[in-house]
Amino acid sequence: MSTFQAPKGTYDLIPPNSATYLAVREAIAAPLKNSGYGYIETPGFENVELFARGVGESTDIVTKEMYAFETKGGDRLALRPEGTASVLRAALEANLHKAGNLPVKLWYSGSYYRYERPQKGRYRHFSQVGAEAIGAEDPALDAELIILAHQAYRSLGLSDFRILLNSLGDKECRPVYRAALQDFLRGLELDEDTRRRIDINPLRVLDDKREAVQERLIGAPMLRDYLCEACKAYHEQVRELLTAAGVAFEDDAKLVRGLDYYTRTTFEFVHDGLGSQSAVGGGGRYDGLSEMIGGPALPSVGWALGVDRTVLALEAEGITLDIPSATAVYAVPLGEEARRVLFRSVTELRRAGVATDFAYGGKGLKNAMKSANRSGARLALVAGERDLAEGVVQLKDLASGEQTPIALDAVVDEVRRALG
Ligand code: HAM
Repeated sequence: MSTFQAPKGTYDLIPPNSATYLAVREAIAAPLKNSGYGYIETPGFENVELFARGVGESTDIVTKEMYAFETKGGDRLALRPEGTASVLRAALEANLHKAGNLPVKLWYSGSYYRYERPQKGRYRHFSQVGAEAIGAEDPALDAELIILAHQAYRSLGLSDFRILLNSLGDKECRPVYRAALQDFLRGLELDEDTRRRIDINPLRVLDDKREAVQERLIGAPMLRDYLCEACKAYHEQVRELLTAAGVAFEDDAKLVRGLDYYTRTTFEFVHDGLGSQSAVGGGGRYDGLSEMIGGPALPSVGWALGVDRTVLALEAEGITLDIPSATAVYAVPLGEEARRVLFRSVTELRRAGVATDFAYGGKGLKNAMKSANRSGARLALVAGERDLAEGVVQLKDLASGEQTPIALDAVVDEVRRALG
């Protein structure tokens, strides 16, 4: 071990497990690529104000969890705690919304940073795959996103997850509800911290995990009862479209989410095998975010799924992904001359698209064959001086042990035939 370790709350992705992470990212991205979403990549850090205004000054993410710093040049930046504000910022900056093709549909995959108390499923560096559909108000778009996330989880073989769905109302009805909730909460006996929350973010009080708090909340006004007609109709359509698509969901009137930009549709994917960090993904509509960061009105909706937690969900359900072995052919040279000749064949095979590896470092036959087996290859190419003198190499089937000489100048064709 070296003097150094990965920083607290982080971990390294290393083979062979890292292959599962890649496969999960791909599985989440596949339905998006198949549905008109284009790939976007934004910087790992942004102006700190973007998150303060976008995610919200009153959220834990901004007040407690942001890696904010000042550069030598005096800029106030922060490592991105989430992707939505950055993606919207980038879309506005590139004028994607003016190209006359709304909604702008984008997907992304990357690392995010939150200074949280680490525990299983909660890290300071984690990975999300996300999708944002910018510039359209259409319940079918909200439904599309939920259906695509559902499809991604299903394609991974997951079944122990649930979709929680709620509507947070809009700028007409939510303020009325907020005031009613504040009135109710002010009449309760609550601790100092929670009382402060009543002023800045009363809806988050509903989300308090403590039982003592939850008991006092019985009888609190529910947003559901305050939704305006437009929000109610919108939400009903989202529900109908999901039902028609065969995607089951649970209405959760208390689902609030930890980011301030949400309006109307909000949802969370929770997995029942994960303990306290059960949210594998979440998202919703954010019709006001564009204006909050200085853009035009652009009603939008999106989600992000956590890659780390999705991998934990696979483990919880005992699912091992069927990841094909990276290497198909492993070449084992015996002697200097064979090394030169076989290395050439390896290069040819690779150029022909056959995944091939080579026994480096002058290993003896026994060790080299061990490496060949460990690589997961189906075939080994073995050559010694006598083979070369005859213009052949030995093609060995690593499962059956069967070995046949093949002509050195026909290696690519013969290997292809053997691989089927
Ligand atoms: P979020 O709910 O904060 O939403 O994060 C989405 C997912 O990222 C979570 O459900 C979880 O799986 C994963 N995640 C979050 N924090 C951590 C952590 N500390 N460790 C491990 N995994 C974590 C957003 O980020 C929104 N931007 C989603 C969105 C997109 N809304 C609209 N568009």
